[in-house]
Amino acid sequence: MTLKDLLKKKLTKKELALVPSSFDIIGDRDKALAIIEIPPELKKKQKLIATALMKQHKNVKTVLAKRSPRKGIYRTMELKIIKGKRDTEVVHVESGCRFILDPRKVYFSPREGSERLRIAELANEKETIAVFFAGVGPFAIVVAKKAKPKKVIGIEINPDAVEYFKENIRLNKLENTEAILGDVKKKAEKFYGLCDRVLMPLPETSSEYLEEAIKCLKKNGICHFYCFTEEDKIKEKKKTVLVAAKKLKRKIKFLEVTKVLPYGPRIWKTRIDFLVL
Ligand SMILES: C[S@@+](CC[C@H](N)C(=O)[O-])C[C@H]1O[C@@H](n2cnc3c(N)ncnc32)[C@H](O)[C@@H]1O
Repeated sequence: MTLKDLLKKKLTKKELALVPSSFDIIGDRDKALAIIEIPPELKKKQKLIATALMKQHKNVKTVLAKRSPRKGIYRTMELKIIKGKRDTEVVHVESGCRFILDPRKVYFSPREGSERLRIAELANEKETIAVFFAGVGPFAIVVAKKAKPKKVIGIEINPDAVEYFKENIRLNKLENTEAILGDVKKKAEKFYGLCDRVLMPLPETSSEYLEEAIKCLKKNGICHFYCFTEEDKIKEKKKTVLVAAKKLKRKIKFLEVTKVLPYGPRIWKTRIDFLVL
């Protein structure tokens, strides 16, 4: 039964049409959170909706309503508990990895699991990999565990996220992964010329850090540059890459462009892969 089915007898037809058909679940079989965007017209019915959601997913112990878009440097959103337990720390399971986190303190999206696996499939055992904007470490950990590269370093500015990242390294028993607290602008320097691959999963502003990424890469290193863009504006995004490379007197070759997830009307989270020669 869908959430709408469960609410059929409790809401009017008009209200039912407004019930979101998708929401995120973060956690495992025993304890999970649901994060849902309740339209303002349904605010008075939010408890009813949360009750139905908890009936549908028995592992959901807390239902949180999105009260703001992602914002600020940490890319977190305001989340209000509408039903359930106040403890919102969970262990999310994905691709055989476990991530402990609290979405009220850090960024995490369960929708990006396939993308993390795609990157892991591209990496290999000989590589040193830098993950800029590493959050609680999901990209770093999936790649470290699946591709078994020589070394993965993740740089993250949110202290809460770095604490979770360190705990996640322990939880997944990884010895090839290191979490570094700080701003990519300052912390990347230590890895200049040492990396075979750099991931840049901060689509809003990652273009501001292209020079750091290029500087980290060895000859023939690969960068995965994420951005939000309309399909017909990809050329402009590629231009920012070319400008950064030119400034550093490095040649680049574009590889693939991948639409990762829809973001808004005609806008996609897009990954532009390029090789630094
Ligand atoms: C979109 S989130 C992605 C997090 C993680 N890679 C994931 O997929 O869950 C971007 C992350 O970059 C961090 N961040 C933003 N600016 C940063 C900077 N200048 N240096 C390091 N981390 C930064 C934020 O705190 C946030 O955790």
